[in-house]
Amino acid sequence: MACLVSLSISLFICLVCSQGHALSLNYYEKTCPNAESIVTEVVKDAAKKDNTVPAALLRMHFHDCFIRGCDASVLLNSKGKNSAEKDGPPNKSLHAFYVIDNAKKAVEALCPGVVSCADILASAARDAVVLSGGPYWDVPKGRKDGRISKASETTQMPAPLFNISQLQQSFSQRGLSMEDLVALSGGHTIGFSHCSSFQNRIHNFNATHDIDPTLHPSFAASLKSICPNKSGTKNGGTSMDPSSTTFDNTYYKLILQGKSLFSSDQALLTSPKTKDLVSKFATSKETFYEAFSSSMIKMSSITGGQEIRKDCRVVN
Ligand code: HEM
Ligand SMILES: *[C@@H]1O[C@H](CO)[C@@H](O)[C@H](O)[C@H]1NC(C)=O
Ligand SMILES: *[C@@H]1O[C@H](CO)[C@@H](O)[C@H](O)[C@H]1NC(C)=O
Ligand SMILES: *[C@@H]1O[C@H](CO)[C@@H](O)[C@H](O)[C@H]1NC(C)=O
Ligand SMILES: *[C@@H]1O[C@H](CO)[C@@H](O)[C@H](O)[C@H]1NC(C)=O
Repeated sequence: MACLVSLSISLFICLVCSQGHALSLNYYEKTCPNAESIVTEVVKDAAKKDNTVPAALLRMHFHDCFIRGCDASVLLNSKGKNSAEKDGPPNKSLHAFYVIDNAKKAVEALCPGVVSCADILASAARDAVVLSGGPYWDVPKGRKDGRISKASETTQMPAPLFNISQLQQSFSQRGLSMEDLVALSGGHTIGFSHCSSFQNRIHNFNATHDIDPTLHPSFAASLKSICPNKSGTKNGGTSMDPSSTTFDNTYYKLILQGKSLFSSDQALLTSPKTKDLVSKFATSKETFYEAFSSSMIKMSSITGGQEIRKDCRVVN
Protein backbone atom coordinates (compact mmCIF):
# COMPACT_ATOMS: atom_id res chain seq x y z
CA MET A 1 0.00 0.00 0.00
CA ALA A 2 2.71 2.49 1.04
CA CYS A 3 4.54 1.43 -2.07
CA LEU A 4 1.52 2.16 -4.25
CA VAL A 5 1.08 5.56 -2.65
CA SER A 6 4.71 6.52 -3.17
CA LEU A 7 4.57 5.20 -6.73
CA SER A 8 1.59 7.41 -7.54
CA ILE A 9 3.21 10.39 -5.83
CA SER A 10 6.37 10.02 -7.91
CA LEU A 11 4.29 9.52 -11.05
CA PHE A 12 2.53 12.78 -10.23
CA ILE A 13 5.84 14.58 -9.71
CA CYS A 14 7.11 13.20 -13.02
CA LEU A 15 4.05 14.56 -14.80
CA VAL A 16 4.30 18.00 -13.19
CA CYS A 17 8.00 18.35 -13.95
CA SER A 18 8.23 16.40 -17.16
CA GLN A 19 11.76 17.63 -17.87
CA GLY A 20 13.13 16.44 -14.56
CA HIS A 21 14.10 19.67 -12.80
CA ALA A 22 11.84 20.70 -10.00
CA LEU A 23 10.80 24.30 -9.62
CA SER A 24 10.90 25.95 -6.20
CA LEU A 25 9.93 29.24 -4.59
CA ASN A 26 13.38 29.87 -3.11
CA TYR A 27 15.38 28.76 -6.16
CA TYR A 28 17.51 31.94 -6.32
CA GLU A 29 17.58 32.58 -2.57
CA LYS A 30 21.36 32.11 -2.38
CA THR A 31 22.39 32.99 -5.95
CA CYS A 32 20.23 36.03 -6.75
CA PRO A 33 17.86 36.93 -3.93
CA ASN A 34 16.76 40.22 -5.52
CA ALA A 35 16.01 38.85 -8.99
CA GLU A 36 12.24 38.99 -8.66
CA SER A 37 12.05 42.46 -7.17
CA ILE A 38 14.34 43.78 -9.93
CA VAL A 39 12.01 42.31 -12.56
CA THR A 40 9.02 43.84 -10.79
CA GLU A 41 10.60 47.29 -10.87
CA VAL A 42 11.40 47.05 -14.59
CA VAL A 43 7.86 45.88 -15.41
CA LYS A 44 6.35 48.65 -13.27
CA ASP A 45 8.43 51.29 -15.03
CA ALA A 46 7.52 50.03 -18.48
CA ALA A 47 3.81 49.77 -17.65
CA LYS A 48 3.81 53.35 -16.38
CA LYS A 49 5.02 54.54 -19.79
CA ASP A 50 2.86 52.19 -21.88
CA ASN A 51 -0.33 50.67 -20.50
CA THR A 52 -0.39 47.94 -23.17
CA VAL A 53 2.67 46.30 -21.57
CA PRO A 54 0.91 44.15 -18.92
CA ALA A 55 -1.39 42.39 -21.42
CA ALA A 56 1.54 41.85 -23.77
CA LEU A 57 3.62 40.16 -21.04
CA LEU A 58 0.78 37.93 -19.89
CA ARG A 59 0.10 36.71 -23.43
CA MET A 60 3.83 36.29 -24.13
CA HIS A 61 4.15 33.92 -21.17
CA PHE A 62 1.10 31.90 -22.31
CA HIS A 63 2.56 31.55 -25.81
CA ASP A 64 5.92 30.57 -24.35
CA CYS A 65 4.45 27.83 -22.16
CA PHE A 66 2.25 26.32 -24.88
CA ILE A 67 5.16 25.69 -27.25
CA ARG A 68 8.02 23.52 -25.95
CA GLY A 69 7.12 24.42 -22.36
CA CYS A 70 7.96 27.67 -20.56
CA ASP A 71 11.52 27.81 -21.93
CA ALA A 72 11.66 31.35 -23.32
CA SER A 73 11.54 29.96 -26.88
CA VAL A 74 9.09 32.77 -27.65
CA LEU A 75 11.85 35.32 -26.97
CA LEU A 76 14.38 34.01 -29.49
CA ASN A 77 14.95 35.98 -32.69
CA SER A 78 14.90 34.38 -36.11
CA LYS A 79 18.43 33.59 -37.24
CA GLY A 80 19.77 32.62 -40.67
CA LYS A 81 17.27 30.24 -42.25
CA ASN A 82 15.42 29.61 -39.00
CA SER A 83 12.22 31.58 -38.57
CA ALA A 84 11.45 31.78 -34.83
CA GLU A 85 8.12 31.58 -32.97
CA LYS A 86 7.85 35.36 -32.72
CA ASP A 87 7.74 35.55 -36.53
CA GLY A 88 5.04 32.87 -36.84
CA PRO A 89 1.44 33.67 -37.80
CA PRO A 90 -0.33 34.33 -34.45
CA ASN A 91 2.29 36.94 -33.54
CA LYS A 92 0.36 40.17 -34.02
CA SER A 93 -0.24 40.96 -30.39
CA LEU A 94 3.14 39.69 -29.21
CA HIS A 95 5.03 42.81 -28.35
CA ALA A 96 6.95 44.52 -25.52
CA PHE A 97 9.88 42.09 -25.83
CA TYR A 98 12.10 45.03 -24.85
CA VAL A 99 10.70 44.86 -21.31
CA ILE A 100 12.11 41.35 -20.84
CA ASP A 101 15.43 42.52 -22.35
CA ASN A 102 15.59 45.37 -19.82
CA ALA A 103 14.74 43.08 -16.93
CA LYS A 104 17.37 40.56 -18.03
CA LYS A 105 20.01 43.30 -18.31
CA ALA A 106 19.21 44.57 -14.83
CA VAL A 107 19.35 41.04 -13.36
CA GLU A 108 22.56 40.14 -15.24
CA ALA A 109 24.26 43.25 -13.87
CA LEU A 110 23.73 41.89 -10.37
CA CYS A 111 24.03 38.12 -10.82
CA PRO A 112 25.43 37.23 -14.24
CA GLY A 113 24.52 33.88 -15.78
CA VAL A 114 22.18 32.80 -12.99
CA VAL A 115 18.56 33.68 -13.76
CA SER A 116 16.84 32.17 -16.80
CA CYS A 117 14.85 34.25 -19.29
CA ALA A 118 11.98 31.79 -18.81
CA ASP A 119 11.87 32.61 -15.06
CA ILE A 120 12.04 36.33 -15.79
CA LEU A 121 9.06 36.03 -18.15
CA ALA A 122 7.06 33.94 -15.66
CA SER A 123 7.62 36.56 -12.91
CA ALA A 124 6.90 39.42 -15.31
CA ALA A 125 3.55 37.82 -16.23
CA ARG A 126 2.62 37.64 -12.54
CA ASP A 127 3.72 41.27 -12.08
CA ALA A 128 1.60 42.26 -15.08
CA VAL A 129 -1.50 40.78 -13.46
CA VAL A 130 -0.79 42.42 -10.08
CA LEU A 131 -0.14 45.81 -11.73
CA SER A 132 -3.52 45.51 -13.46
CA GLY A 133 -5.24 45.04 -10.10
CA GLY A 134 -5.36 41.24 -10.26
CA PRO A 135 -4.23 38.57 -7.78
CA TYR A 136 -0.67 37.96 -6.56
CA TRP A 137 0.85 34.49 -6.45
CA ASP A 138 4.33 33.22 -5.60
CA VAL A 139 6.08 32.11 -8.78
CA PRO A 140 8.00 28.81 -8.56
CA LYS A 141 11.38 29.24 -10.27
CA GLY A 142 14.17 27.14 -11.76
CA ARG A 143 13.11 27.00 -15.42
CA LYS A 144 15.82 26.63 -18.04
CA ASP A 145 15.94 28.35 -21.43
CA GLY A 146 15.55 26.32 -24.61
CA ARG A 147 17.68 26.38 -27.74
CA ILE A 148 14.96 25.84 -30.34
CA SER A 149 12.24 28.18 -31.62
CA LYS A 150 10.33 27.51 -34.83
CA ALA A 151 7.68 29.69 -36.43
CA SER A 152 6.03 26.55 -37.85
CA GLU A 153 5.29 25.30 -34.32
CA THR A 154 3.04 28.27 -33.56
CA THR A 155 0.29 26.36 -35.40
CA GLN A 156 0.14 24.35 -32.16
CA MET A 157 -1.37 27.37 -30.38
CA PRO A 158 -5.12 27.18 -29.77
CA ALA A 159 -6.95 29.37 -32.32
CA PRO A 160 -9.78 31.82 -31.65
CA LEU A 161 -11.97 29.70 -33.96
CA PHE A 162 -11.63 26.63 -31.74
CA ASN A 163 -14.73 24.92 -30.37
CA ILE A 164 -14.88 23.41 -26.90
CA SER A 165 -13.53 19.99 -27.88
CA GLN A 166 -10.57 21.52 -29.70
CA LEU A 167 -9.85 23.77 -26.70
CA GLN A 168 -10.11 20.84 -24.32
CA GLN A 169 -7.70 18.80 -26.43
CA SER A 170 -5.19 21.65 -26.69
CA PHE A 171 -5.18 22.15 -22.92
CA SER A 172 -5.23 18.48 -21.93
CA GLN A 173 -2.23 17.78 -24.19
CA ARG A 174 -0.37 20.12 -21.83
CA GLY A 175 -1.72 18.59 -18.66
CA LEU A 176 -4.31 21.34 -18.19
CA SER A 177 -7.94 20.69 -17.25
CA MET A 178 -11.27 22.22 -18.28
CA GLU A 179 -11.13 24.31 -15.10
CA ASP A 180 -7.68 25.58 -16.12
CA LEU A 181 -9.11 26.39 -19.56
CA VAL A 182 -11.93 28.50 -18.14
CA ALA A 183 -9.76 30.21 -15.51
CA LEU A 184 -6.87 30.99 -17.86
CA SER A 185 -9.17 32.30 -20.58
CA GLY A 186 -9.88 35.02 -18.00
CA GLY A 187 -6.57 36.52 -19.18
CA HIS A 188 -8.82 38.07 -21.82
CA THR A 189 -9.97 40.59 -19.24
CA ILE A 190 -6.99 42.75 -20.31
CA GLY A 191 -5.57 43.76 -23.66
CA PHE A 192 -6.48 44.30 -27.27
CA SER A 193 -7.58 42.20 -30.23
CA HIS A 194 -7.24 42.78 -33.96
CA CYS A 195 -10.22 42.41 -36.31
CA SER A 196 -8.70 39.32 -37.87
CA SER A 197 -9.16 37.40 -34.61
CA PHE A 198 -12.97 37.72 -34.54
CA GLN A 199 -13.99 38.62 -38.09
CA ASN A 200 -15.31 35.08 -38.64
CA ARG A 201 -18.18 35.99 -36.31
CA ILE A 202 -19.29 39.14 -38.14
CA HIS A 203 -18.71 38.41 -41.84
CA ASN A 204 -20.06 35.24 -43.57
CA PHE A 205 -20.34 33.38 -40.26
CA ASN A 206 -21.90 30.35 -41.95
CA ALA A 207 -24.17 29.41 -44.83
CA THR A 208 -27.30 30.69 -43.10
CA HIS A 209 -26.03 33.51 -40.89
CA ASP A 210 -23.81 36.46 -41.81
CA ILE A 211 -23.38 37.22 -38.10
CA ASP A 212 -22.87 34.66 -35.33
CA PRO A 213 -26.34 34.54 -33.71
CA THR A 214 -24.79 34.01 -30.27
CA LEU A 215 -23.43 37.58 -30.43
CA HIS A 216 -25.55 40.26 -28.76
CA PRO A 217 -27.01 42.27 -31.70
CA SER A 218 -25.81 45.72 -30.62
CA PHE A 219 -22.36 44.32 -29.78
CA ALA A 220 -22.18 42.66 -33.21
CA ALA A 221 -23.14 45.97 -34.82
CA SER A 222 -20.39 47.82 -33.00
CA LEU A 223 -17.82 45.18 -33.99
CA LYS A 224 -18.97 45.50 -37.60
CA SER A 225 -18.49 49.24 -37.53
CA ILE A 226 -14.95 48.78 -36.20
CA CYS A 227 -14.18 46.02 -38.71
CA PRO A 228 -16.36 46.79 -41.76
CA ASN A 229 -14.96 44.15 -44.09
CA LYS A 230 -12.48 41.31 -44.29
CA SER A 231 -9.86 43.13 -46.34
CA GLY A 232 -9.80 46.55 -44.70
CA THR A 233 -8.61 47.69 -41.28
CA LYS A 234 -5.63 45.35 -40.92
CA ASN A 235 -4.46 47.14 -37.80
CA GLY A 236 -7.94 47.84 -36.53
CA GLY A 237 -9.46 46.11 -33.57
CA THR A 238 -10.90 46.65 -30.13
CA SER A 239 -10.12 46.21 -26.47
CA MET A 240 -10.83 42.82 -24.91
CA ASP A 241 -13.35 44.29 -22.51
CA PRO A 242 -14.39 47.85 -21.57
CA SER A 243 -12.11 47.69 -18.52
CA SER A 244 -9.21 46.37 -20.57
CA THR A 245 -6.45 47.63 -18.31
CA THR A 246 -8.10 46.21 -15.19
CA PHE A 247 -7.74 42.56 -14.29
CA ASP A 248 -11.26 41.74 -13.04
CA ASN A 249 -14.02 39.18 -13.76
CA THR A 250 -15.83 41.33 -16.36
CA TYR A 251 -14.75 38.87 -19.06
CA TYR A 252 -17.08 36.19 -17.68
CA LYS A 253 -20.02 38.59 -17.34
CA LEU A 254 -19.53 39.59 -20.98
CA ILE A 255 -19.53 35.95 -22.16
CA LEU A 256 -22.92 35.46 -20.50
CA GLN A 257 -24.22 38.55 -22.37
CA GLY A 258 -23.01 37.43 -25.81
CA LYS A 259 -20.32 40.12 -25.73
CA SER A 260 -17.12 38.09 -25.84
CA LEU A 261 -14.84 38.58 -28.83
CA PHE A 262 -13.74 35.12 -29.90
CA SER A 263 -15.58 31.95 -30.84
CA SER A 264 -13.25 30.28 -28.32
CA ASP A 265 -14.59 32.55 -25.54
CA GLN A 266 -18.21 31.91 -26.51
CA ALA A 267 -17.43 28.16 -26.72
CA LEU A 268 -16.99 28.08 -22.93
CA LEU A 269 -20.80 28.12 -22.72
CA THR A 270 -21.21 25.01 -24.86
CA SER A 271 -20.33 22.35 -22.29
CA PRO A 272 -22.21 22.11 -18.98
CA LYS A 273 -19.02 21.97 -16.91
CA THR A 274 -17.35 25.01 -18.47
CA LYS A 275 -20.61 26.95 -18.56
CA ASP A 276 -21.01 26.36 -14.86
CA LEU A 277 -17.50 27.70 -14.23
CA VAL A 278 -18.15 30.79 -16.36
CA SER A 279 -21.20 31.55 -14.20
CA LYS A 280 -19.23 30.93 -11.00
CA PHE A 281 -16.40 33.25 -12.04
CA ALA A 282 -18.89 35.89 -13.25
CA THR A 283 -20.48 35.87 -9.81
CA SER A 284 -17.35 35.86 -7.68
CA LYS A 285 -14.17 37.74 -8.46
CA GLU A 286 -12.48 36.04 -5.49
CA THR A 287 -13.28 32.56 -6.83
CA PHE A 288 -11.89 33.60 -10.22
CA TYR A 289 -8.72 35.04 -8.67
CA GLU A 290 -8.03 31.84 -6.74
CA ALA A 291 -8.63 29.65 -9.77
CA PHE A 292 -6.56 31.91 -12.05
CA SER A 293 -3.58 31.96 -9.67
CA SER A 294 -3.50 28.21 -9.26
CA SER A 295 -3.96 27.57 -13.01
CA MET A 296 -1.16 30.05 -13.82
CA ILE A 297 1.19 28.16 -11.51
CA LYS A 298 0.18 24.94 -13.27
CA MET A 299 0.65 26.36 -16.77
CA SER A 300 3.93 28.02 -15.90
CA SER A 301 5.31 24.77 -14.49
CA ILE A 302 5.41 23.11 -17.91
CA THR A 303 9.19 23.25 -18.27
CA GLY A 304 11.44 22.45 -21.19
CA GLY A 305 14.83 24.18 -21.57
CA GLN A 306 18.43 23.33 -20.75
CA GLU A 307 20.53 26.49 -20.34
CA ILE A 308 20.62 29.95 -18.76
CA ARG A 309 20.70 32.26 -21.74
CA LYS A 310 22.94 35.34 -21.55
CA ASP A 311 20.80 37.32 -23.98
CA CYS A 312 17.10 36.42 -24.11
CA ARG A 313 17.01 36.85 -27.90
CA VAL A 314 19.86 34.43 -28.78
CA VAL A 315 20.97 31.00 -27.61
CA ASN A 316 24.35 30.78 -25.84
C1 HEM B 1 -7.98 29.43 -24.65
C2 HEM B 1 -7.29 29.65 -25.72
C3 HEM B 1 -6.89 31.02 -26.18
C4 HEM B 1 -7.11 31.55 -27.41
C5 HEM B 1 -7.79 30.86 -28.58
C6 HEM B 1 -6.61 32.90 -27.39
C7 HEM B 1 -6.64 33.76 -28.46
C8 HEM B 1 -6.28 35.08 -28.42
C9 HEM B 1 -6.37 35.99 -29.52
C10 HEM B 1 -6.85 35.62 -30.91
C11 HEM B 1 -5.97 37.21 -29.10
C12 HEM B 1 -5.94 38.50 -29.90
C13 HEM B 1 -4.72 38.57 -30.76
C14 HEM B 1 -4.79 39.77 -31.67
O1 HEM B 1 -5.71 39.82 -32.49
O2 HEM B 1 -3.95 40.66 -31.55
C15 HEM B 1 -5.62 37.07 -27.71
C16 HEM B 1 -5.15 38.09 -26.93
C17 HEM B 1 -4.77 37.94 -25.61
N1 HEM B 1 -4.72 36.77 -24.92
FE1 HEM B 1 -5.47 34.98 -25.51
N2 HEM B 1 -6.10 33.16 -26.16
C18 HEM B 1 -6.24 32.05 -25.38
C19 HEM B 1 -5.81 31.90 -24.08
C20 HEM B 1 -5.14 32.85 -23.38
C21 HEM B 1 -4.50 32.63 -22.10
C22 HEM B 1 -4.41 31.28 -21.41
C23 HEM B 1 -3.98 33.82 -21.70
C24 HEM B 1 -3.22 34.15 -20.45
C25 HEM B 1 -3.45 33.61 -19.29
C26 HEM B 1 -4.32 34.79 -22.72
C27 HEM B 1 -4.01 36.13 -22.65
C28 HEM B 1 -4.25 37.03 -23.66
C29 HEM B 1 -4.02 38.47 -23.52
C30 HEM B 1 -3.54 39.19 -22.27
C31 HEM B 1 -4.32 39.03 -24.76
C32 HEM B 1 -4.19 40.52 -25.14
C33 HEM B 1 -2.80 40.73 -25.68
C34 HEM B 1 -2.44 42.17 -25.93
O3 HEM B 1 -3.22 43.08 -25.68
O4 HEM B 1 -1.29 42.40 -26.36
N3 HEM B 1 -4.99 34.17 -23.73
N4 HEM B 1 -5.80 35.77 -27.32
C1 LIG C 1 4.71 38.30 -37.72
O1 LIG C 1 4.87 37.27 -38.66
C2 LIG C 1 4.98 37.72 -40.00
C3 LIG C 1 5.07 36.50 -40.88
O2 LIG C 1 4.07 35.58 -40.56
C4 LIG C 1 6.23 38.63 -40.11
O3 LIG C 1 6.33 39.14 -41.43
C5 LIG C 1 6.12 39.78 -39.10
O4 LIG C 1 7.31 40.53 -39.11
C6 LIG C 1 5.89 39.26 -37.69
N1 LIG C 1 5.63 40.37 -36.78
C7 LIG C 1 6.28 40.51 -35.63
C8 LIG C 1 5.87 41.66 -34.79
O5 LIG C 1 7.14 39.74 -35.26
C1 LIG D 1 -15.15 20.88 -33.15
O1 LIG D 1 -14.48 21.00 -34.38
C2 LIG D 1 -13.94 19.78 -34.86
C3 LIG D 1 -13.08 20.10 -36.09
O2 LIG D 1 -13.72 20.95 -36.97
C4 LIG D 1 -15.09 18.81 -35.16
O3 LIG D 1 -14.59 17.59 -35.64
C5 LIG D 1 -15.88 18.59 -33.87
O4 LIG D 1 -17.00 17.79 -34.13
C6 LIG D 1 -16.32 19.92 -33.27
N1 LIG D 1 -16.89 19.66 -31.94
C7 LIG D 1 -17.94 20.33 -31.46
C8 LIG D 1 -18.34 20.00 -30.08
O5 LIG D 1 -18.53 21.16 -32.12
C1 LIG E 1 -25.12 28.55 -38.51
O1 LIG E 1 -24.92 28.75 -37.12
C2 LIG E 1 -26.10 28.73 -36.35
C3 LIG E 1 -25.75 29.06 -34.91
O2 LIG E 1 -24.67 28.32 -34.44
C4 LIG E 1 -26.75 27.37 -36.49
O3 LIG E 1 -27.98 27.34 -35.75
C5 LIG E 1 -27.01 27.05 -37.96
O4 LIG E 1 -27.50 25.75 -38.08
C6 LIG E 1 -25.73 27.19 -38.74
N1 LIG E 1 -25.99 26.98 -40.15
C7 LIG E 1 -25.28 26.17 -40.90
C8 LIG E 1 -25.70 26.03 -42.33
O5 LIG E 1 -24.33 25.53 -40.45
C1 LIG F 1 -13.18 47.87 -46.62
O1 LIG F 1 -13.17 48.90 -45.64
C2 LIG F 1 -12.26 49.95 -45.88
C3 LIG F 1 -12.33 50.94 -44.74
O2 LIG F 1 -12.37 50.34 -43.52
C4 LIG F 1 -12.61 50.62 -47.20
O3 LIG F 1 -11.64 51.61 -47.46
C5 LIG F 1 -12.62 49.59 -48.31
O4 LIG F 1 -13.06 50.21 -49.52
C6 LIG F 1 -13.54 48.43 -47.98
N1 LIG F 1 -13.43 47.40 -49.01
C7 LIG F 1 -14.50 46.78 -49.53
C8 LIG F 1 -14.19 45.70 -50.53
O5 LIG F 1 -15.63 47.03 -49.19
